[in-house]
Amino acid sequence: MSQLVLTANPDFADLALAEVDAAGVTSLAMEMLEPGVYLLDLAEAFWDLAEHWRSHPPMFVRHICPVQRTVPLQKSDADLPALSAAVRAEFGDLLEPQLSFSVQSRTLCELPYKRFDINNSLAAALHEATAAPLDVRAPVQILSVVCAEVALDEHTDTHNNTSQAVALVGLSLASQNLSDWAGGMRRFAREPEQVSRAEFKLLEALEVFQITLPPRGVALDLGAAPGGWTRVLRGLDQYVTAVDPAELDPRVKADRSVRHKRITAEAYLADEPDTFDVIVNDIRMDARDSARLMHAYARQLYADGLALVTLKLPGQNRQSILNEALQILAHAYQIRGVRQLFHNRSEVTVYLVPKN
Ligand SMILES: C[S@@+](CC[C@H](N)C(=O)[O-])C[C@H]1O[C@@H](n2cnc3c(N)ncnc32)[C@H](O)[C@@H]1O
Repeated sequence: MSQLVLTANPDFADLALAEVDAAGVTSLAMEMLEPGVYLLDLAEAFWDLAEHWRSHPPMFVRHICPVQRTVPLQKSDADLPALSAAVRAEFGDLLEPQLSFSVQSRTLCELPYKRFDINNSLAAALHEATAAPLDVRAPVQILSVVCAEVALDEHTDTHNNTSQAVALVGLSLASQNLSDWAGGMRRFAREPEQVSRAEFKLLEALEVFQITLPPRGVALDLGAAPGGWTRVLRGLDQYVTAVDPAELDPRVKADRSVRHKRITAEAYLADEPDTFDVIVNDIRMDARDSARLMHAYARQLYADGLALVTLKLPGQNRQSILNEALQILAHAYQIRGVRQLFHNRSEVTVYLVPKN
């Protein structure tokens, strides 16, 4: 038996929860802590599910973390010392002193202190107890703390309250949580030169799929306007052909290493295009049409090249449309990864390499 907190895009929570069933575990109880965030009771251990998903990553579940201790919160200044004492007692012996750690907290209810205060108090308590090194950028171990209102069962409800604020605390390896970020919420700093919010999508995809672009590579950006992805690719040393009937941001257009083809991707394909190291496609079109387009573009990719495509998913029949699109892609490519990233809205990002 185990408890865990699972996080997904609220609009795709049904598909995320279906992935729990498909993993072959038995969900005994489930409580929604906020849209897209669920407290699950499983018949199996958290580690079993985490291990299964390490070899068969889910597409829609963004993050999981175990719950090994539930600490009631008074919503007062007394909480942080009480939480620190509970964490020291419960996790002081479990934390591996040789491995780095970090505390990741989320607050899903109103509290008189901030996430920063929770992280600092608990990190200090654990470091004092174990001397394990704190590393907030790339920790090996993560103490996850989810503060939320949970439903009380009628036996414990002495004051006619229906819910109680608690901290749900668990220790795991970062590699077991599906994301190195609390709730899978990977945030990037906004840069003044940023052209579009879509830039975050490409940055996150490159990080999640651990993609390194070839030095001075040649990249094709399909559906490039206003030019956010092209700007990211330029920042990564790529010469970019940007294909879009729409206009590019003047800053991107002025870059001499960007060639703008002001036509559709279909028209460009008919025009004997070059061969590329990298093809990216963020065109807003039916997922199956995007897949067909990428299928047609497969021969424009070098044998050691790679491609990234966002597949837009509609409100209805999303799973079957996605499956169809992936089948089309699988005819021309090896599918290395499919994830709904934090910066994806109604879409997933697919990482492809040529079939050998
Ligand atoms: C979501 S935007 C792309 C945003 C871009 N990735 C960025 O970072 O700025 C989608 C773009 O696809 C373009 N588009 C739509 N249909 C297209 C087609 N058939 N061929 C090429 N571009 C297309 C649209 O003009 C639009 O600029």
